[in-house]
Amino acid sequence: MKKLTGNINVCVFISGRGSNLKELIKYSKKNNTNWKVKLVISNKKEAKGLVYAKKNKIFNYAIVKKMPQFEKKALNYLKKNKINLLCLAGFIKILSKEFIQKCKFKIINIHPSLLPKYKGLNTHERAIKAGDKYSGSTVHYVTAKLDSGKKIIQTKVKVLKADNPSSLAKRVLKAEHSIYPKAIDIVCEK
Ligand code: GAR
Repeated sequence: MKKLTGNINVCVFISGRGSNLKELIKYSKKNNTNWKVKLVISNKKEAKGLVYAKKNKIFNYAIVKKMPQFEKKALNYLKKNKINLLCLAGFIKILSKEFIQKCKFKIINIHPSLLPKYKGLNTHERAIKAGDKYSGSTVHYVTAKLDSGKKIIQTKVKVLKADNPSSLAKRVLKAEHSIYPKAIDIVCEK
């Protein structure tokens, strides 16, 4: 994959808490990266991540619409803000093939499992049920096929005997916070 060069305008799509978004913003400021979070879009009005974006004076919008209206509106904002990279961080909608094709830039996603294992939902529950020794998280390119694009970075987290889905999710999330900004560094060459 060809790396992105120059100054990269990043948009983050969220649906809720936005802890990954928060880490991306913090990391890019601290490390003066060539990529900056310029725009945040949520499909939910009450998403906490929007509050954090506001605090950091980042353009932010809630688009509470069904597909394809969400995608149409989002595309306008992406163009208007000259976005070069779209990062999904806890975004619960599935992007259409048409939207992905219309975005002439890369789209990446963070997923809470060791892909190709456990695409889709309830990843922690499935890892525990299967008796896996390790779970983790993967940052990958987004394609029209759910959670199937090329892997950029992956991190392993040990599954403990006492784990339940929420305790495992907590540790995986912590690991996610450290790999997502690194994945963007990999995609955006300085
Ligand atoms: C993260 O664990 C992320 O991997 C997951 O949602 C959480 C969002 O947390 N994403 C998916 O499950 C996508 N399939 P955050 O809102 O605090 O960043």
